[in-house]
Amino acid sequence: MQELSGRTAVVTGAGSGIGRALALALAGEGVAVAVADIIPANAQQVTDEITAAGGKAIAVECDVCCRDSVATMKSRVLRELGAVSLLFANAGATSFEYLPDMDQSDVDWMIQVNLMGVTHCLEAFYPDMARAGDGHVMATASAAGLLPGWVPYHAPYAAAKMGIIGMMLNLRIEAAEAGVGCTVLCPGGVESGMKDNNARYRPDRFGGPQEGGVKIPEGFFQQADLHFRPASEVASLCLEAVRHNRPMVLTDSSLRQTYLDSYHQTVMSAFDELEAFDGQPG
Ligand SMILES: NC(=O)c1ccc[n+]([C@@H]2O[C@H](COP(=O)([O-])OP(=O)(O)OC[C@H]3O[C@@H](n4cnc5c(N)ncnc54)[C@H](O)[C@@H]3O)[C@@H](O)[C@H]2O)c1
Repeated sequence: MQELSGRTAVVTGAGSGIGRALALALAGEGVAVAVADIIPANAQQVTDEITAAGGKAIAVECDVCCRDSVATMKSRVLRELGAVSLLFANAGATSFEYLPDMDQSDVDWMIQVNLMGVTHCLEAFYPDMARAGDGHVMATASAAGLLPGWVPYHAPYAAAKMGIIGMMLNLRIEAAEAGVGCTVLCPGGVESGMKDNNARYRPDRFGGPQEGGVKIPEGFFQQADLHFRPASEVASLCLEAVRHNRPMVLTDSSLRQTYLDSYHQTVMSAFDELEAFDGQPG
C-alpha cells in the first residue's frame, strides 16, 4: 500500500505513547484518524493536536477488552469518518509480578486487554477490509512475546503477546489471499506513558482504575537490559512496514543475540533432542 493519504485509520491506545505517535504520523500523511482510547481526555488531547496541525481526527472512547465497546466505537467511526482501511490494534497494558502473587483479575486483565483487545478489533474491522480486498491491519505485540525469556515476571503478558504474534503471522496468510496487508509490531523498550500510568488503564471489572504505574519486582533491572526508543521512530518504522506490507516490525536491534540465545536456542535444542530420540533404535 503505497498511498496512505485519503484513507481512514483506527488507532487504539492512541491517547499516549506508541498509539499517539502512530495517530500523529498517520494524520501527517493525510489519513483521517479515529483516536480510540479508554481514557477519553487523552484521546481528545491527541485529536486536538492533530486538528491544530491541520489534520482530521475524532476522539472515541473505547475499552478494547469489551466487544460491545469496540462495536460502538466502530459505528461512530463509520458514521463520522467512513470506511476504515487501516487498523492499528495497539492498546495494551503490562504487569511485572510473580505468578503466585497475581490474582484472577490480574491475569484476566492481561489476557483481555492485550490478546482479546486485538482480537475484538480484528473481528470488528478485518472482515470489511477482506470483502473490499483492500486495507492493512497491524497489531502491537511485544518483544516479550517473541523472546519469552527476555524480561522476567511477565508470564501472562508474554502469553498474550505471543498469542498476538501467532494470530497476526497466521492471519497474514489469508489476508494476502484477500488483498489485505498484515503486520505485527514487536517493540522492545519504547518511551511511553506505561511506566507511570499503567494502573489507570485497568477497567473497573478488573478492579481498576487505580493510581500509578507499573510495579517492578526487586532484581528486575539486574536481569533485563532495556533500551528505550522514542515512540515517533517506532511510528515511522510502522508506516514503512504498511507501505511495504512487512510481516514484522522490531525496534531494538540489540535483541538479535537475545533471540538467538533464548527462543531460537530453545526450539533448536528441542529439535536436536527429538532427532536424537528418533535416531535411537526402537
Ligand atoms: N513501551 C514499551 O516499552 C512497550 C514494549 C513492548 C510492547 N509495548 C506495547 O505497546 C502498546 C502501546 O503501549 P505504550 O508503550 O505506548 O504505552 P502507553 O501507556 O503510553 O499507551 C497505552 C495506551 O493504551 C490505552 N489503553 C490501555 N488499556 C486500554 C483499553 N482497555 N482500551 C483502550 N485503550 C486502552 C491507554 O489509555 C494508553 O493511552 C501496548 O500494547 C504495549 O503492550 C510497549
